[in-house]
Formats: sequence, structure tokens, C-alpha cells
Amino acid sequence: MQSHLLLPALFFSSLLPPLAAQEDDPTKDLFLIHCAACHGENGDGKGTTELERPARSFLEGGFSYGNTPEAVLRTLSFGIPGTPMPAFDVALTKDQRKALAQYVISLGPPGTIVDPAQTELVVKEETLLARGLLPPIFLSADKQPRGLLIGLPSGTTFEYRTDDVRLLGVRSGRFVDRMDWTGRGGAALKPLGRVIELFGAGKPKTSWYLATIGKKLPPKELGASMRTSFTRGTSGGLGYELIDDGSSAGLVMETVSHVRTPVGSGWRRSFTVRSEIPDKVLRFDGLDLILPEDLLAAFEGDLRKATDGHSDRLYGTQHWLVRKNPSGFQVTVVHSLDFPNQGGAVPGPKGDVGFWIYPTFKNVTVNITRLTCLTWDDATRTAIAKELSK
Ligand code: HEC
Repeated sequence: MQSHLLLPALFFSSLLPPLAAQEDDPTKDLFLIHCAACHGENGDGKGTTELERPARSFLEGGFSYGNTPEAVLRTLSFGIPGTPMPAFDVALTKDQRKALAQYVISLGPPGTIVDPAQTELVVKEETLLARGLLPPIFLSADKQPRGLLIGLPSGTTFEYRTDDVRLLGVRSGRFVDRMDWTGRGGAALKPLGRVIELFGAGKPKTSWYLATIGKKLPPKELGASMRTSFTRGTSGGLGYELIDDGSSAGLVMETVSHVRTPVGSGWRRSFTVRSEIPDKVLRFDGLDLILPEDLLAAFEGDLRKATDGHSDRLYGTQHWLVRKNPSGFQVTVVHSLDFPNQGGAVPGPKGDVGFWIYPTFKNVTVNITRLTCLTWDDATRTAIAKELSK
């Protein structure tokens, strides 16, 4: 009988669930379900999903897209354009995302959160603009061009050189430190986001050209002169005039926004163009080169009959270009509902992505959307097409 007195403890402990499950941490479970495949079960960045550019390890802290709970929450809600890090605003509630933000911060060493400097501009619910001198975005880029930064609530920043209106790059993360407010003359802005896309190695060529209808002359480079910049809720943009030998060749309102789909996130440039020179066509060639050997797929989507009544041809209102890069599958779609009459999207002779616009004396809108996805298959295509039709 005596010996039985020792048994109850053994009895209960043998029937209790193992320690880990007893802790019952719902946030850790969420992490295992939604994040571990890429970030590793313990957050070391060694997940089972094959990524050419590994997901971040949370064990060392030092978040490059912002390390405050708000910044990490933003990363979880919007994803990181240009990388396979997805947006979780649909899959997870805001409370779950908040808890996960705390959780991944807690995996790192304590005290890694740094308070933002007094001069840091933090984007909250609405887009912010900053104009001033820019530091070179890349080694070989211009020293201190005058520039405009458009910072979206998603953490995406568009960096323009303003003297000739060229998009230098896209960043993700924190917005800008207004070092120029510290009183020292000639100080440049300090963009804080990480460059996720760079155009023309920091020295992009002109984006706009003028061609003469019916003539085989090479298109002529146009100048551009900035007229305005604006914010509109969660998007923002700028307005400029295209210049041909000192006179106006057209007007452009360019709006930039963040795009997220269940298969990947990214950004959109939306151009509303007015072209008014009767025998000339405007051509936009301002993205980047996609070499034919890098192109995985190129096709037209959403075919429609021309609405001008002169032609039976079907026109694609979407032109898709897919390439593989170290971050995943980069999908670029040039799309417009104004195409059947007024223009078309074309990968240019050297693989550049662009579109052209006939003189219409009315506003024509063309969008360029670029997403980074982990996979490229029918489901990816369907999910993106759904977003484009919004
Ligand atoms: C499909 C793979 C994938 C999944 C799933 C994924 N991530 Fe990521 N995540 C990435 C990649 C890749 C990066 C790194 C991007 C970079 O550094 O350029 C990243 C970056 C991040 C960052 C930013 C780190 C920094 O440096 O600021 C955070 C925070 C993050 N992930 C949290 C999460 C959480 C939490 C989940 C689950 C809810 C999750 N991720 C799910 C791939 C993934």
C-alpha cells in the first residue's frame, strides 16, 4: 500500500500534454502556421520554402524595414514590394498581426527598438511628401539632385529626381529623416527605406519620346518639367509637362500606389496623359530593360474589340511580362481600358516596357503594375487579373 503514495504525481504527469502545448501561446501557433515556412520555426530565417533571397532571421533584431511595433505591423499588413514577403491583412486580423509583430520583435535581443529621431517624418494613415536635395541613390548616381519623395502608408517610397522628372527608385520601410531641418545649409534629405528597385542604376534615361505618325524617324527624346505634386489618401503623385524644344508636347498626371494581392505585393504607377499634337504619338519607355532571355512569359490579356468601329482586330487591354529574378517572379502588367482606341503596350525593341498614346485631345489613363510573387502559375495569374479588374 505504502508504495502507491508515490504514484499520483507520476500518474498525472504522464497523462498531461507535453510542456510546449501546455504553454498555449496562440501567437506562436499563428507564427508556425503563417510564417515558419519562410522564416523558420524558431524565426532563424531557415524555413522550408525555397527562397533565393532568404527571409529574414528575427534572432538578431535589426529590422531593415523598421523595428518599432508599428513598423513591423505595417510590414505584416502590406507585405514588402519587390520581395516575396506577403501581405497578411486578409489572412490575419489586426489584433493577430499586432501580436505577431510583438512576437517577432521578442525573438531578437532586447533593446533593439530605437526611438525615431526628432527630424524623422513618419507616414501614418495618409501619404506624405518631402521635397529637397537627395543623396545619391546609388554609387554612380548624381551627387545631390533636387528630388521628391512620396511616402505611402504601406511603407513604399517613390524617389523622383525633379529637374527632369525621372523615377530613380522605389524604397520600402521608414520614410525620411529631414536632415535638412537641422539648420545646416545644403543638407540633403535622408531617405530611410531600403531600395527595392533601382532604375537605370540611379541615372535613368528619359521616359518620354515623341514619334511622328507615318514616318520612320527614330522617336525624339522629350524633356519634362514638374508642375505639381499631391497626396490623395493612401496614394500620391506628381504632375508634369512634356517639353519638345521648349514647347509643350503633352501633360501627365502620375499617381503612385501600393498594390497587394493574395499572391504578392508591389506597386502601381498610373499615368493620365493628354497628348495634343495632331500628327505625333507619345511613347513612354521609362521602366527598365527586360532582356528576352530573362522573359519567362509575355502575353496579352483581356482582349477586346476596338471600339472605334474601323477595325475587327481584338486588342489586349493588358500586356503581361513575367521574369524570374533573385526575389521571385516579377510580374509587370501594362494595362488600360483606354487602349482599344488610343494606344498600346509594347515591350520595346530592346525589351523595355512601355506604351504609346495617339493624340486624342482627351485624357487617357495607362497603368503599370509590378508585383513580386513566390510562384508563377495559373492561380497566380488569376489572382493578379482579379486585382487588375478592380
Ligand atoms: C513566402 C515567404 C514568407 C512568408 C510566408 C512570410 N515572410 Fe516575412 N519575409 C519574407 C522575406 C523573403 C523577407 C525579407 C525581405 C527582404 O529582406 O528583402 C521577409 C521579411 C519580413 C519582415 C521584415 C524584416 C525586416 O528586415 O524589417 C518581417 C517583420 C516579417 N517578414 C514577418 C513575417 C511574419 C510575422 C510572417 C507570418 C505572418 C511572415 N513574415 C511570413 C518571406 C516571408
